[in-house]
Amino acid sequence: MTNDKRVIGNKGEMPWGRMLRDLEYFKKLTMGFPVVVGYNTLVSISEMSRRSTNLLPGRTLCVLTRDQNKLTRFTDCIWLPDVMSVINLSQRIRVFIAGGENVYRQFIDLPEVRTIYMTRIIANYHGDTFFPNYSADDWLTIQRENHAVSEKNKHPLIFETLIRRK
Ligand SMILES: NC(=O)c1ccc[n+]([C@@H]2O[C@H](COP(=O)([O-])OP(=O)(O)OC[C@H]3O[C@@H](n4cnc5c(N)ncnc54)[C@H](OP(=O)(O)O)[C@@H]3O)[C@@H](O)[C@H]2O)c1
Repeated sequence: MTNDKRVIGNKGEMPWGRMLRDLEYFKKLTMGFPVVVGYNTLVSISEMSRRSTNLLPGRTLCVLTRDQNKLTRFTDCIWLPDVMSVINLSQRIRVFIAGGENVYRQFIDLPEVRTIYMTRIIANYHGDTFFPNYSADDWLTIQRENHAVSEKNKHPLIFETLIRRK
């Protein structure tokens, strides 16, 4: 989820807080599949849900960190030591890369990454972490769904699906 400045986070959390409509969309997309996050995003999800276990019910939470010991208190996630381990996993099953900035930067240009599910939030927030710049020449928007403000999203949202052109 990002805004027009490509902000995705601020001080370890999403500046707009919980947005139920986007959480439901994320859940529907990823249910049954492995979800890969960087260690900082694991901490962010854990703090948001005030839990260190069962953070993404129904999905295998895979965490990139160079230090496996940092995962000791997160009982049900899988350690992935490097990008290659994610690529290997993706050869067996569809994998969702779910941030944060550091992780997105390493994956956005890999040919194995075929689809971007982008939630655009129409709101002006500052942040310290960003979705990487990508070339419009490389990605084609094949679907766009607008959501007006509702009790499930305090700002307008657009769900976009982009596929790699080449
Ligand atoms: N808006 C959204 O949709 C969204 C989604 C996700 C996250 N976020 C936000 O993004 C922010 C966090 O992003 P971030 O860039 O600070 O951190 P991050 O990408 O979540 O995690 C970075 C950490 O992941 C590990 N890592 C990354 N690449 C690795 C590799 N190739 N091999 C092994 N380990 C690797 C390293 O951990 P070690 O130092 O332990 O090795 C690294 O310090 C938070 O504010 C969060 O709320 C927003």
